[in-house]
Amino acid sequence: MNIGVIVCTCGNTLSDRIDIDRLIDFAKSLEGVSTVKRVDLFCENYEEVIREIEGKVDRLLFVGCSERSSLKMNEDRMAKILEEMGLDRAMFEMANVREQCAWVHEDRDGATRRALDQLMMAYVKLRSNRPTGKAIKLEKRVLVVGGGVAGMQCAVDLAKAGIDVVLVEKNPYLGGHTAQIPLLFQCEGWSSMCTSECVLPVIARETTFSDKVKIITNAEVKEVEKVNGNFSVTIEQKPQFIDPSKCVSCGKCAEVCPVEVPSEFDMKFSNRKAIDKDFALAIPDTYNILDEYCNRCGECLKVCPTNAINLDAKPSTYNYSFGAAVIATGFDKYDLNKIEKYNYRHPNVVTTLELERWIAKNFNGKPPESIVYILCSGSRSEEGVPYCSKLCCPIMSKLTMRLSTVYQETEIAVIYRDLRTYGRAFEDFRKRAEVQAVEFVKAEVERVVEENGKLKVITNEGEFYADLVILAEPLVPSSARLMKMFGLPLDEYNFPIEFQPRIIRPSESYVDRVFVAGTARGFKDVQESVESGSAVAMKVYEALMNDKIPLKYVSQIDGGRCTGCGICVAVCPHNAIKMESTIAKSDPAFCKGCGLCISACPANAIQLMNFEDKQLLDQIDVAFRHAEEGEPRILALLCYWCSYAAADLMGLKGLKLPANFRSIRVRCSASVKNWILLKALLENRVDGIIVAGCSPKNCHHLHGNYMAEKRIKALKETLPMLGIDGKRLRYEYIGVAMWGKLANVIKAMNNSLRE
Ligand code: FES
Repeated sequence: MNIGVIVCTCGNTLSDRIDIDRLIDFAKSLEGVSTVKRVDLFCENYEEVIREIEGKVDRLLFVGCSERSSLKMNEDRMAKILEEMGLDRAMFEMANVREQCAWVHEDRDGATRRALDQLMMAYVKLRSNRPTGKAIKLEKRVLVVGGGVAGMQCAVDLAKAGIDVVLVEKNPYLGGHTAQIPLLFQCEGWSSMCTSECVLPVIARETTFSDKVKIITNAEVKEVEKVNGNFSVTIEQKPQFIDPSKCVSCGKCAEVCPVEVPSEFDMKFSNRKAIDKDFALAIPDTYNILDEYCNRCGECLKVCPTNAINLDAKPSTYNYSFGAAVIATGFDKYDLNKIEKYNYRHPNVVTTLELERWIAKNFNGKPPESIVYILCSGSRSEEGVPYCSKLCCPIMSKLTMRLSTVYQETEIAVIYRDLRTYGRAFEDFRKRAEVQAVEFVKAEVERVVEENGKLKVITNEGEFYADLVILAEPLVPSSARLMKMFGLPLDEYNFPIEFQPRIIRPSESYVDRVFVAGTARGFKDVQESVESGSAVAMKVYEALMNDKIPLKYVSQIDGGRCTGCGICVAVCPHNAIKMESTIAKSDPAFCKGCGLCISACPANAIQLMNFEDKQLLDQIDVAFRHAEEGEPRILALLCYWCSYAAADLMGLKGLKLPANFRSIRVRCSASVKNWILLKALLENRVDGIIVAGCSPKNCHHLHGNYMAEKRIKALKETLPMLGIDGKRLRYEYIGVAMWGKLANVIKAMNNSLRE
């Protein structure tokens, strides 16, 4: 083992607070250390230093700033340097003697003692780190489920980047709900509209004519299995009675078809034939047969000029392996029959999406005398869904502006609880509607009833009569079944939970290389959905271009010890563990190394590579080697993300603390096993332990912080039975911004231990 140690003085600023020479001498005395370099500014001079030590060291220990928070020499930059040096990512550790040591301790001797221990802890861990696993080969093929605008845009962008895509759509046509909306908001800043009959074919034809995109319409995903880092997916397609390559859309078949049924595409405001096209510009440009209604009379066969029809067609099954998957399945409509008061069963009570088709089919018919538009019909309510569906107010603005333009004699009233026409363009639509005499009334709807052939809307502000009542229905997620197949954690409404930190990773899910685009993720208008499709394409591209999945921390299950209880499968937030017969098996390609499984396993059968029990015990063992005798020994086990960053911020913000605590950066706070805590208290002469995790709802591994808190609470209650004061152990939720709280917790523990 040739360990190289680089001690950075941070432009000599650390030398004032820490005895750097003592650190260097100590590093030189450690077994296996072949090189020790003192550098004044590693971030500026690293190339020179690397040239000097390259090829001479096989492990690297950096003593200086924080790998988590340093803006100049953090873990991302370090990863690149290691790559340049040809060193494995796991052959590196950092001893943070700046943010969490020199900057928080005023006492130079105390700070030096702590720095020596931090160095020692990093050293013992580095010695036992194991190289990352071998690269996992990812298929350069992507599954996109959902052929709406988000899915199509994503597919097109990926295809242009040279990646093969299989696009699966449940309808016979592409475009999703967008195809049903005649006029779309054009853009955010300018209140104009564009017809979907122009916009959709532009995206759809790019998708259809790309030789990189295979489109499977009338199909759905039946099975998903993770195999060697890829997704093995089974797709089932309904019988294709009409060959799209032969169909010329002449319509002769529909003319002779004797079966007429209500058109689902037109929300039953028109009829279609059992063989028909859902709308004139449908892409793929082909007719389709509704299997459940076709009576097999064969009339269509007689008139088809290209022999495109085969009434004996059978369902098809496709199997593919994908390196990544995109779920772009859009939204579903809430069933308003569940809310009695809106009288949705009445034929003249329609939803906004139904209104879109009603407009498309009836605009030239007799105008209604009066229309009442009810906002929040089921959104933000106890009877429906508690959330705001976000798009209802903008859609209302567009539709009332349009209705009032075309039906100038019609009285239109909008009943609202609150109006939220976000952005510039939507408010402009609303103002135009107001100018065109649409009445806006703030009121609560109590009931919608029929009276003398009219509809009466009863509110707390009076009654309104209408020929047509429009309900702004809530939008609900559409693809819980599919998301569960991919193992995505869902929220209470069945929307997927974005990977934390959500703000900067909004389209990523908790399962590696499964992305969610468009309204499947939350409410978006068409333009926002297109943006989302493109954004996801970029993320997918990035994920597939990097063939080597970094496997520094991965869980490894000892099959001999595993009892097959399945607890690890249940707690894994990344869907990386499955049962194979009676043994749990972890898939390194999907493991995020959070460590939730290792501490939950009742058989202690799981270890996390490079965060093994022995490594943590070794660190605890040396944590107070240089501590002053008689001082309380406080150990802070800080979660990898939030809490460790908060500890760094204590230094950055200039807080001052006693130098008798030591910190270890653990994985998720739930990775810490109770027996290790107990051992530290009983055998390692640690006086007090603080385990800190991300603030509530912010754990990077979904529920790790809650698990850790519960488990530690249980241990705390047990401690007095072992003669240990429960105050010696604390669990704290410490988000990044809670550096002040962390400092107070350390000080409070210090005081209570002294007492
Ligand atoms: Fe911070 Fe889970 S990652 S507690």
